[in-house]
Amino acid sequence: MKEVGKIWMNGKLVPFKDAKVHVLTHALHYSTAVFEGIRCYKTPKGSAIFRLPEHVERLFNSAKMYSMKMQYSEKQITDAIVKTVKASTLKECYIRPIAYYGYGKLGLTPTQNKVDMAIACWEWKMGESKAGKVSGARCKVSSWIRIDSTSQPMKAKAASNYSNAALARVEALEEGYDEAIMLNSEGKIAEGSAENIFVVKDEQILTPPPTSGILEGITRDSVIQIIEQNGGTVTETNLDREDLYIADEVFMTGTAAEVKSVTRIDHATIGNGKPGVITKALQKAFTDVAMGRDERFISWLKYV
Ligand SMILES: Cc1ncc(COP(=O)(O)O)c(C=O)c1O
Repeated sequence: MKEVGKIWMNGKLVPFKDAKVHVLTHALHYSTAVFEGIRCYKTPKGSAIFRLPEHVERLFNSAKMYSMKMQYSEKQITDAIVKTVKASTLKECYIRPIAYYGYGKLGLTPTQNKVDMAIACWEWKMGESKAGKVSGARCKVSSWIRIDSTSQPMKAKAASNYSNAALARVEALEEGYDEAIMLNSEGKIAEGSAENIFVVKDEQILTPPPTSGILEGITRDSVIQIIEQNGGTVTETNLDREDLYIADEVFMTGTAAEVKSVTRIDHATIGNGKPGVITKALQKAFTDVAMGRDERFISWLKYV
């Protein structure tokens, strides 16, 4: 990682290399952290953070689901994110705010410790996640079942959700795939390890509902709104594994992935094995929105 700019830690901007925590930090042992992943894009009118209020709101909702007592307000964190992006000197970056139980007492009960907060930025350019952008990603339906809301709140973007996702990601990579697709405990399609998923069949666009145990992605919401504004519809419905194999197109959405095409799943070639027409149109539409070229969605950009 290139160490650029500063990292905001509990109200102070500290040099990147000095942004350290104690090895007995609670979250390191018990995954007691919630976080966000946000993008700042270099647009023709300057750097702009994509859907900042929605990300800050999700962070606070995640914290609430885990009864975390935040030391800062949503406004303070919003201001701190903008300040950190400016201090990074980066025109285009990934932003990672994280709230975590810190150093103090080390036992299971997290609430004996203070909730610390940090915000970091690192370089990340538009379209940098290559798999799926040009040739289409090859995905494996994971042998790991997505944990669900009967065990822990899946609507929270919590560190503890990611050991399950990381198992799926590593399994897929070790078997030569680019990404994993996870089923929920009912055998329905949930999501990728860090993306939501959409299927196109007979010109209908389908995606699993929030009740399938997914993170309600902000890119997922953006893509749904873009489709609707362009006169189309997206149907939220439970999908079976075989719906993937016989789909005309499959694509995934996420802050890191943006809109990525999936052209192979397990043994099956999706459609004609190339990124589909609808996927490509959405990739372009999403890029236009993120770059501030679509006036209808200009309020999604916070210029810094
Ligand atoms: C498990 C999971 N699902 C979906 C997403 C997509 O969410 P978003 O579009 O808000 O980045 C992410 C990425 O944050 C994720 O980690």
